[in-house]
Amino acid sequence: HFQYTNNEPGMLRLIQRLKTFPLMISHWIGPVMTILQVYHPDSVHAVLTSGAPKNDLGYRFIRSWIGDGLLTSKGSKWFRNRRLLTPAFHYKVLKPYSEIFNKNSLVMVDKFKNLCGQSIEVHTHVGLMTLDTMLQCAMSANTNCQHVTFSKNERKSSRLPGYSSTKQDEVDTFLFEGHDTTASGRFYSVITDTFKYDPTNFRNDLPKLEYLTKFIKESMRLVPPVYAIGRQLEKPLNIKEKDSEHESTIPAGTNIGTSIFALHRHVHFWENPTVFDPERFTKENIAKRPAFAYVPFSAGSRNCIGQNFAMNEMKICLAQVIRNLRLYIDGDSPVPKMQPRLVLQSESGIFVKFEKL
Ligand code: HEM
Repeated sequence: HFQYTNNEPGMLRLIQRLKTFPLMISHWIGPVMTILQVYHPDSVHAVLTSGAPKNDLGYRFIRSWIGDGLLTSKGSKWFRNRRLLTPAFHYKVLKPYSEIFNKNSLVMVDKFKNLCGQSIEVHTHVGLMTLDTMLQCAMSANTNCQHVTFSKNERKSSRLPGYSSTKQDEVDTFLFEGHDTTASGRFYSVITDTFKYDPTNFRNDLPKLEYLTKFIKESMRLVPPVYAIGRQLEKPLNIKEKDSEHESTIPAGTNIGTSIFALHRHVHFWENPTVFDPERFTKENIAKRPAFAYVPFSAGSRNCIGQNFAMNEMKICLAQVIRNLRLYIDGDSPVPKMQPRLVLQSESGIFVKFEKL
């Protein structure tokens, strides 16, 4: 057993330990509970395709906040709602949202233009932008969160007229999953080949933004917004490492944590794992790795329903920032320190300075 602490040193200690235990490790959560952390593509594959439900360790806290929506629900309730919501994420449905992403990104860019030369904590601004986007796309609301000041707790939506509690839970789920994660995903990303394309035509140019896509993927490798996923086994699970033929059976009832953070830095699959290199995501390099070596949006039946929505939004937002502003940091900007909470955050904020182009 190894003592895990839920902070940056704890996360980095886990990476050190995977050199000795490449498949999984068991560790304490507080004085009485243990969890099995998996972070090898073979063990992650076994867990995410096993159909094991979410565990109650972390999700019961999320449930008390956003209710029993798609993210937290189980069994037939989840299955029915997933089937009902899937068509809403078809790429044809998502396409017109590009205009909303574009409009809100430009509002944010204008705010940054007025703050040039100052050290700006960008997470707050990006979070308000993604909140506007979610409200406008999911509820056709005419919002302007980017110009309103309110506390984070107020962002849980108030009960909507005529909404059942089930429908309200889905709205709260989308507001949480759809803006906090996307805002953190964008933190660490910058720069690219976006100048080649017409910013008024992103709707059709999105697939062409290849380097930007690699850049975002590499950002989410090193700093995955959803850094861990929990499951609880209802029946025993066989985990077999393909290369060594080593096999273990994990007993029913075990609490499992899939560490996306450790998986994305696993030395067996990523050369110089701490080096930022978007070229890891060329078609050739992707083909050399097991499919489950990189899962920022999870995988299997409970994968992220909003992954295309999120990728489109991140691409458009970054492209607009880069087209309009030069970003830099200097001695005034505190170094970001990872803080694993519901999503991976920075304890010291993310400070950037802007200069007009
Ligand atoms: C960079 C942005 C995002 C990342 C990294 C991300 C990542 C993830 C991950 C890892 C899961 C699996 C969680 C688990 O098993 O507990 C998930 C589930 C989910 N995500 Fe996302 N997500 C992002 C953005 C979004 C957006 C924009 C939406 C909505 C528009 C969304 C909606 C959901 C929902 C509803 C689920 C639950 C799906 C289910 O269990 O059937 N996510 N996401």
